[in-house]
Amino acid sequence: MIVVSDTAALEQPLTALRHRAGRIAFVPTMGNLHDGHLALVRQARAAGDAVVVSIFVNPMQFAAHEDLDTYPRTLDDDLSALREAGVDLVLTPDKEGIYPDGSAQHTAIHVPVLGDALCGKDRPGHFDGVCTVVYKLFQLVGPDIAVFGEKDLQQLLIIKKMVADLSLPIDIQSGPTQRSEDGLALSSRNQYLSASERALAPLLWHTLQSCGMALTETPEGPSASIIDPAREALEHAGFTVDYLELREMSTLQLVDNMDQDCALFVAARLGNTRLIDNIQLTASR
Ligand code: PAF
Repeated sequence: MIVVSDTAALEQPLTALRHRAGRIAFVPTMGNLHDGHLALVRQARAAGDAVVVSIFVNPMQFAAHEDLDTYPRTLDDDLSALREAGVDLVLTPDKEGIYPDGSAQHTAIHVPVLGDALCGKDRPGHFDGVCTVVYKLFQLVGPDIAVFGEKDLQQLLIIKKMVADLSLPIDIQSGPTQRSEDGLALSSRNQYLSASERALAPLLWHTLQSCGMALTETPEGPSASIIDPAREALEHAGFTVDYLELREMSTLQLVDNMDQDCALFVAARLGNTRLIDNIQLTASR
């Protein structure tokens, strides 16, 4: 496995890899890898001939009050896991390699509408940072395929839109959310939870499942009769709910019935830790 930290030194090993192997499948990450990332890497291996992974904690997608400085950085363990997973090349750029003049001055890519709802509303500028770094990584790596997790469903839809709008010749594939046995979606931020918060956290997924079942059983709505009590129950259990909303899948418009394919999205905080999850629901036809 080749590890490249200098973005200027990437072209030669990438060209060699492309000649030797063929189609490049890419998994961008912020490191601190868990089984969710490794499942995306396995999917990338099955989809392409060579796998490239990036590890970069992207300052542009963190607001000033967020956890950029404390975000877990575990490079040695990450590289061991990627070596074991059969990854061909890992890109580990530093801030200067991606944002030579700093991220605050950098041109940003904004995907309107999809990027303004849900987490885009609660974390202004977040998806501009995500799109900008993903676009830059795509330019550096030149992948044929890129794999993103469905845990960050809004991010996945935004990246797909950016790729379509900017006519990037990249096949965006998605991998299912990986969960702990009790249902909690795997996330690097789960390690911030105290023992009591960790015990409570799976309630998010259980709530999504029970609401999802009820919404599918009463597709005509109104969805608020199912979602409002569920939001109150989460609050009562100790969550601070940023949103629990039924949205149409392709446009992310708020909807009140199940006429179209939808997803129920949740973001909720336990203490200082913000957790997100979602469940995709198929319309009754
Ligand atoms: O999902 C993530 O880990 C990040 O948002 C990504 C796509 C690597 C961009 O920094």
